[in-house]
Amino acid sequence: MRSFFVLLLIICTASVNAQPFSFYKEKYRPQFHFTPAIHWMNDPNGLVYHRGEYHLFYQFNPFGNRWGHMSWGHAISKDLVRWQHLPLAIPEEKDTMIFSGTCISDINNTSGFADQPGTLPLVAIYTAHIENVSQSQHLAYSLDDGRTWTKYNKNPILDIGSKEFRDPQVFWYAPQKKWVMSVVLATNKKIRFYSSYNLKQWEQMSEFGPAGDISGIWECPDLFEVPVIGEPGKTKWVLMHSPAPYMQYFIGDFDGTTFRNENPADKIFRPDYGPDYYAAITYRNLPANSSPVSIGWINNWNYANDIPTTPWKSAMSLPRKLAIRKINNEWILLQQPADVVKSLRQKVLLMLKNETIDKTKKLSIKTQQCEIEIVLQPSVVTVSGVRLAAGNGHEIEIGYNAKTQILYIDRSKTSNRSFNENFEKLSHYETKLVLSNKLLRLNIFFDNSIVEVFANNGEAALTAQFFPDEKDNGIELFSINGVTKLASLNIWKMGSAW
Ligand code: FRU
Repeated sequence: MRSFFVLLLIICTASVNAQPFSFYKEKYRPQFHFTPAIHWMNDPNGLVYHRGEYHLFYQFNPFGNRWGHMSWGHAISKDLVRWQHLPLAIPEEKDTMIFSGTCISDINNTSGFADQPGTLPLVAIYTAHIENVSQSQHLAYSLDDGRTWTKYNKNPILDIGSKEFRDPQVFWYAPQKKWVMSVVLATNKKIRFYSSYNLKQWEQMSEFGPAGDISGIWECPDLFEVPVIGEPGKTKWVLMHSPAPYMQYFIGDFDGTTFRNENPADKIFRPDYGPDYYAAITYRNLPANSSPVSIGWINNWNYANDIPTTPWKSAMSLPRKLAIRKINNEWILLQQPADVVKSLRQKVLLMLKNETIDKTKKLSIKTQQCEIEIVLQPSVVTVSGVRLAAGNGHEIEIGYNAKTQILYIDRSKTSNRSFNENFEKLSHYETKLVLSNKLLRLNIFFDNSIVEVFANNGEAALTAQFFPDEKDNGIELFSINGVTKLASLNIWKMGSAW
């Protein structure tokens, strides 16, 4: 029976590839964010660039539109924004689900899996989850660029007898020619670091945590090196992870054994201050001199299973280009949409320059799928910004309070919120943002039921889902408590990821 469903999935997936446009037009369906054709998806897994292809594996239920039967779904892209579905990569097996993990291109064949010259092993390391019994780290490898996978016959490769030990992320630490794994002890709120020379035997090196946000369990760690803006050649290490249901990061140094946070210990730093950004990880094996790139899951465990989309659930964020900068003695992770996202821009829908906003300014266009670049010069006491999905008393508001220096997103007036009481409650999100040159620069990606906001060169990001009626397609600018100068506004229609 199970194999029948897997076959059905493969057929459906193949037909999505053959006729993408008839399938992907359902209500709320994002068009330029990755979504599975059918069924439930959560965390991105195994992000790796390998022989000219960006792989996106993801937590996937091949049997339904709620969490369960976790397996690795699979898609590839030549450019990180246009995706092609591939058949299920690593299916659940009997009682063992395939939880989150990593994928690396083993270019030196340290694992020894390549048995012929010219073969380049892709190695996946993931958590094997047996409900109420165990979580241990397992390995699978592919010798045909991720198309078929073999589970290692000596699994597990790392087992500490825990039920809460998961989400390994592995990278090559070049100075000591070894692999490093970060993995969480979820309920202890700790990240452990292990090292290996062959991806099969692992030795514990150190631990980090509890620290920062310890209100929820810790999941999905990722440790990676990031260039410092304005200081060529200088890098720092970012330790990012998901204290449920949000994310946080630490920035400091890693000496091959231990990570040391250099940011204030009493402050929480988040890669995204909106409700729907979780389990983000970065790409492995990117071409030399590329900036690190991350992708996150756009959903929130407080209501994820109930969102009103069918026949699929959940989307991935746009690929985000990462850098860091020191601002007021704190290291800040800067996130911008990867440059290639610009290639999805189609025609310009509207351009404005040097205008003023007094109360409400309704724009002449109507759309639920666009990119907006807006530069505002708010005066001292105004609250100003953009309203999307506006109509019939509905709207989602992205605003900046110049007095309190708070950037916020508020979805309390969007339609269709009653599917889950947590969703109704979790409606207002904000973060402090100090303006430089008195300008607020917002880059907003609106994709039917998703909005991703990047502020001031990536100093803050806010991602949210909402479920507007089709007629709620107006866009407005607003300024309360005075007039706000609109320095510039550009709106593009956005193309599709398929
Ligand atoms: C995070 C997470 C991971 C786990 C996976 C299971 O969203 O809970 O810790 O590996 O999802 O689907």
